[in-house]
Amino acid sequence: MNSERLKTIVSFVEPKESVIDIGTDHGYVPIMLAKMSICSRIMASDKSENALLSAKMNIREYGLLDVIELKVSDGFSNISSGYDVAILAGMGTNTIKKILSCDNLPNKIIVQSNHDIAELRRFMNDIGYKIKEEVAVFDERYYVVICYVVGQEVLTEEEILFGKSDNIDYYKYLFSKYMELYSKSGSKEYENYKTLLKTIIEKKQG
Ligand SMILES: C[S@@+](CC[C@H](N)C(=O)[O-])C[C@H]1O[C@@H](n2cnc3c(N)ncnc32)[C@H](O)[C@@H]1O
Repeated sequence: MNSERLKTIVSFVEPKESVIDIGTDHGYVPIMLAKMSICSRIMASDKSENALLSAKMNIREYGLLDVIELKVSDGFSNISSGYDVAILAGMGTNTIKKILSCDNLPNKIIVQSNHDIAELRRFMNDIGYKIKEEVAVFDERYYVVICYVVGQEVLTEEEILFGKSDNIDYYKYLFSKYMELYSKSGSKEYENYKTLLKTIIEKKQG
């Protein structure tokens, strides 16, 4: 629960917001939020009954069963009331996209996808959300956590591909990754990524 990834996720929640954590699994995000004592309401939900049972055990251990609501639900399908914020973390982009392909989404969505982040940025842009803040956090490996709010924004192709975080070490890490992939494959795509990342790093270094 002390993970930098989880700390970053909860840092985007503001006082008095009601929050639903979709795909809660162990329930750590709701527990961290409840310990912060800032939310007006917290819901821990998961499509897996077993996952929700493990969340319930953890929540009970922290004595927070009266603070955190629990519900088995595939995405929002079994969720009747509205929330200010939805958190979807530790899942892949396809799963996140499926969950968010419905009406009446919250105004604020905090996402942390394990794969295909560029595709997720494009999708969120298409469904009418703009990036409020994006953080690339190192927690044994890099994770990208994005806080979205309802709104329109025009993103450049570089922003779609590599995001809007200001973590220069993350861009250096991506550069090395694509350099290695390029030297193994000779792919034009990786060469292009390398060039774009070099420009981003130079700009950020000022
Ligand atoms: C790897 S865990 C992530 C746990 C936690 N959110 C985190 O970031 O550490 C992914 C969880 O998402 C749940 N999940 C996957 N698809 C889901 C869906 N459509 N609706 C609700 N939960 C889902 C899985 O059951 C699993 O418990």
